[in-house]
Amino acid sequence: MTNNKAKMILEKDFKISEIDNRIYGSFIEHLGRAVYGGIYEPGHPQADENGFRQDVIEMVKELQVPIVRYPGGNFVSGYNWEDGVGPVENRPRRLDLAWRTTETNEMGTNEFMKWAKLVNAEVNMAVNLGTRGIDAARNLVEYCNHPGGSYYSDLRISHGYKEPHKIKTWCLGNEMDGPWQIGHKTAAEYGRIAQEAAKVMKWVDPTIELVACGSSNRNMPTFADWEATVLDYTYDHVDYISLHQYYGNRDNDIANYLALSLEMDDFIRSVISIADYIKAKKRGKKNINLSFDEWNVWYHSNEADKLIEPWSIAPPQLEDHYNFEDALLVGCMLITMLKHADRLKIACLAQLVNVIAPIMTEENGPAWKQTIFYPYMHTSVYGRGVSLNPIISSPKYDSKDFTDVPYLEATAVYNEENEQLTIFAVNRHLQDSLHLECDIRNFEDYEVIEHIVLENDDLKQTNSAKDTPVAPHSNGNAAIDGGLVTAALPKLSWNVIRLAKRK
Ligand code: AHR
Repeated sequence: MTNNKAKMILEKDFKISEIDNRIYGSFIEHLGRAVYGGIYEPGHPQADENGFRQDVIEMVKELQVPIVRYPGGNFVSGYNWEDGVGPVENRPRRLDLAWRTTETNEMGTNEFMKWAKLVNAEVNMAVNLGTRGIDAARNLVEYCNHPGGSYYSDLRISHGYKEPHKIKTWCLGNEMDGPWQIGHKTAAEYGRIAQEAAKVMKWVDPTIELVACGSSNRNMPTFADWEATVLDYTYDHVDYISLHQYYGNRDNDIANYLALSLEMDDFIRSVISIADYIKAKKRGKKNINLSFDEWNVWYHSNEADKLIEPWSIAPPQLEDHYNFEDALLVGCMLITMLKHADRLKIACLAQLVNVIAPIMTEENGPAWKQTIFYPYMHTSVYGRGVSLNPIISSPKYDSKDFTDVPYLEATAVYNEENEQLTIFAVNRHLQDSLHLECDIRNFEDYEVIEHIVLENDDLKQTNSAKDTPVAPHSNGNAAIDGGLVTAALPKLSWNVIRLAKRK
């Protein structure tokens, strides 16, 4: 038994919020091998009649991804959506200036909607506010969502899609604060175009929800002023403000790396404050909620990407091979987001297949699961219901950039429907297991049904198409006695303790 002890209290009535399932969303961009060679590979032995890889579809279904952002990302800021609809043989090849590749447009809006249906996901559609504007945005809403009897809705019908796609969630451009963005704008320039685009998009379909672009990451020099200015223009017309953040263990400092979710927490809190400041300034009634529509680890592939031949078609870009420590940070980030379920309603793990992704594919070969697949799957599958507000006391440590980092990062989700309670926990301790005592009080007559653990002695261990050394097991030792759950959380581990009311 270890001296390293942490306590947690869970009460049915200590609720943060009902979780919006879109918090478990992901992202497919026309980038690298995400679309071509990822979800779509005609000629692959597992391809269906649409060219969609069924092995990939099965893995996406395992993840129970509720919503997928599409088609970008940086790509969307140069994209003409009209290039991707209608007969495939008439579609133009275009230079994608965002990623310096050639886009064939074989896949477009309708094909993607068809794929999303097959994986039971909604689509979070982004419009181009880089090279295009209000007109293209409102036309795309009409094309996708209007039932018929107008130019663009009839065009969709003529393309073989009689029923409207009924897309509910829309992004107003992508990372418009970044100088790398095609059509980069100042906050005021973007605020105005987003305001007008939002207004007319909702005139076409008042049922849609809109996400305005926040900063590309917390370190942008314009961060905070950008959000305030953009929301000042768009408050009346939008529903969410976006956040994007990627991390990497560049200094090979695991204690500091695993603490980065504290920075994510701070980022979320800051954006909530800015949104509330604008609400106060406007004497507004509604809250602007948050869409963390790009988040992940991204750094392993940075050097390899510099060698990519410009203007190639679907080259292997941003193909990070994730190791065990990345899975731990991804787990901490998921827990952090669940703790903000009252304001964070959408989040997209960027991305889903091949490009900084939990799922990888080999051309003409198998699909396989990266290390980060597991914490993402566990939270998506077992983390539906009410996000509880846990009272936690944990020993702490200091790292290079952080003080008071709790060894225990944890939260819990209560599913009232099936009377299941799930504790998600990471032990950040480098050497010791952590003895967890969790008082579950008014969850009477509960039993442990499973204690899943993801652990590995080698922090740098990756998976591959041939081998899955980083995979969870269910041999955790969680037990319950008189309303007290106890468990030893192995050093550096991701844990899922599943409890259910005794039948
Ligand atoms: O997800 C990869 C890229 O990261 C996206 O295209 C862009 O929005 C962000 O910078």
